[in-house]
Amino acid sequence: MMSDDPVAEVSRAQDEALASIAAASTPEQLAQARVSSIGQKAPLSQIKKSMGSLSAEERKTLGRAVQEALAAVEEALAARAAVLEAGVEAERLALDRVDVTLPGRGGALGHPHPISVMLERITDVFLAMGYRVAEGPEVETDFYNFEALNMPPDHPARSLWDTLYIAGASTLLRTHTSPVQIRAMQKQPPPIYVIAPGRTFRRDAFDASHSPMFHQVEGLAVDRGITFADLKGTLDAFAHEVFGGRLTTRFRPSYFPFTEPSAEMDVSCPNCEGAGCATCKRSGWIELLGCGMVHPNVLRAGGYDPEEVSGFAFGMGVERIAMRAFGITDMRQLFDNDVRFLARFAG
Ligand code: DAH
Repeated sequence: MMSDDPVAEVSRAQDEALASIAAASTPEQLAQARVSSIGQKAPLSQIKKSMGSLSAEERKTLGRAVQEALAAVEEALAARAAVLEAGVEAERLALDRVDVTLPGRGGALGHPHPISVMLERITDVFLAMGYRVAEGPEVETDFYNFEALNMPPDHPARSLWDTLYIAGASTLLRTHTSPVQIRAMQKQPPPIYVIAPGRTFRRDAFDASHSPMFHQVEGLAVDRGITFADLKGTLDAFAHEVFGGRLTTRFRPSYFPFTEPSAEMDVSCPNCEGAGCATCKRSGWIELLGCGMVHPNVLRAGGYDPEEVSGFAFGMGVERIAMRAFGITDMRQLFDNDVRFLARFAG
């Protein structure tokens, strides 16, 4: 039903609508104001709906008033929406504000493992002397790991290595890097000057001085007229390069099936300089490597003629050397992968 003065009612409805729009302070409140001022149940919409019963003249006047009121309300809604949207945007910007002048968070930077550091150091010394790096497989055959190294089947020296066999007796994990000597000689005629750094495996329990997987660096020099003096000079220079300082070396007779004569090289303890301490078990000396003059049978297995050429070979354990050089007392620490421990060897 129409009231007595519908035009006045339109104007009142408009005022109310504009007031609710102006009062809306969030986009949600504005959505509510939109429903209550121009939604289906809003007073203006109701008035519009009930105009059918009016005379043509009345409908014209009231119709115009309603149209104008609706237009004013729509305009107010749009204006208010723009203001609120800008406010929301500003708030979001304020929240997302980044202070680009703050110092950044530094990423944790890794560094080479002490074994890699030592492997590289040893390799560099020999590269500088003109050696090159040779490689061989970690899964080896009995032939290269033993037989070609002057250890025929049933040779008692095979028991010097606690071997991990794979699929029968002829395939194994190499117990030393010495098989690379044979592989390298088979690939090229003499002269040859190579080192072979790499992983080796033995059936050893993990303890402070043993690991079933460890690293060795093998060396082989074969040429015309190579003598034991070349061996001593080369390995003495090597020890000084790696350990530096005033150390002395000493060669003790030893036994390896693939060299004759064989020796072990010790260096004076870098910790006590020979006086005797816990590191060197009071002896003043530290065992560094095995070496010797390459056995004629080994040269033959590599395809070389022992009447024409001679050579020396050596092999060293990288973990032990790294432990001595860096003052590490338990080999297991090298494999625990505890970054707090490894971080001591950064840089
Ligand atoms: N292969 C030996 C080992 O693992 C180390 C060794 C000794 C290598 C004397 C050599 C050598 O080349 O001449 O115990």
